[in-house]
Amino acid sequence: MKSRVHNSVGVLCCLIFFTSVSLGNSAPLLIRFSHVVAENTPKGIGAKMFKERVETRLNGRVAVEIYPASEKFTDEQAILALLFGDIELAAPSFPKFHKFSKSLEVFDLPFLFESQEEINNFQQSETGQTLLSSMENVGIKGLRYWNNGMRVISADKPIREPADLEGLLMRIESSCVFSEQYAELGAIPIQMPFGRLKDSLRDGVVAGYENAWSNIAAGQLQLLRPYFIETDHSYLGYMVVSSTSFWDSLPDDIRMELEAILDEVTREVNSLAEKSAQTDREEIMHNENVTIVTPTDEERLLWKKAMLPVWKKFEDEIGTDIIDAARVAKDQPTR
Ligand code: LMR
Repeated sequence: MKSRVHNSVGVLCCLIFFTSVSLGNSAPLLIRFSHVVAENTPKGIGAKMFKERVETRLNGRVAVEIYPASEKFTDEQAILALLFGDIELAAPSFPKFHKFSKSLEVFDLPFLFESQEEINNFQQSETGQTLLSSMENVGIKGLRYWNNGMRVISADKPIREPADLEGLLMRIESSCVFSEQYAELGAIPIQMPFGRLKDSLRDGVVAGYENAWSNIAAGQLQLLRPYFIETDHSYLGYMVVSSTSFWDSLPDDIRMELEAILDEVTREVNSLAEKSAQTDREEIMHNENVTIVTPTDEERLLWKKAMLPVWKKFEDEIGTDIIDAARVAKDQPTR
């Protein structure tokens, strides 16, 4: 009698389990996507677009949670969080990866890429595509390149030539290349997470910083530092990354749909980045207190000359083959 009751309970449990699976009641797979910028920047919009498309097209099978604006993690923390399985996606800027791949420092070299077109050409080239897997040995999988824009310099006083930065405390991303670059300029570089930039400007901790127009406009940083010089000396772009273990463990059909969505969103983010580099600059320029200096060719040469010694210091660790490949590929459209 007892065993008959046990058997019926067992059958009932199995029935409930199979019914819930067949009705799709199993918990959706969760992708947590952390980034540090505002939701109205190209990367912020891209993250939301990714969530919407994934949840619509993989209806009930995958859910996406976004942690924007350093809400949970700085970029440096996010990379570790990926490896610990606390998040599944992040899109840090290139300098944040320098501990994991020295080759990626090629993206940080001043005056190597002077336009979005050049960076696109390199990213699509064979070497550019190979760099996406340059962190797989430590468990980080590069999925796509997302763009933002050229970096400009801003300070609390007018800046025209490199000597104007002498002695100024400058917030920089966590990059050895950028530290050297500002040291060459006679400034004092301070590595600081992006989430602390606005407060550090408001509180006078730093005199200036460098960044792309979209991040400046989103944070209204022009109200805190109205002087800009368009050195456009390096490109602020991102690598969308996951952990190798997470990405490779996804069921094939889900991974293929995520890849397709990433392709679409990447195209949209990169075209948005191109547009906002102009529209955000225009918006900032309309503020009557703002001064944007566009250096003449001679002045630009002065900035180049001042920053170029950085290349020598990093060419061994980046690899001259990678730097050479970038120099060739940037002028050769691949598509
Ligand atoms: C920064 O740290 O200044 C940028 O990398 C922020 C970002 O993600 O655009």
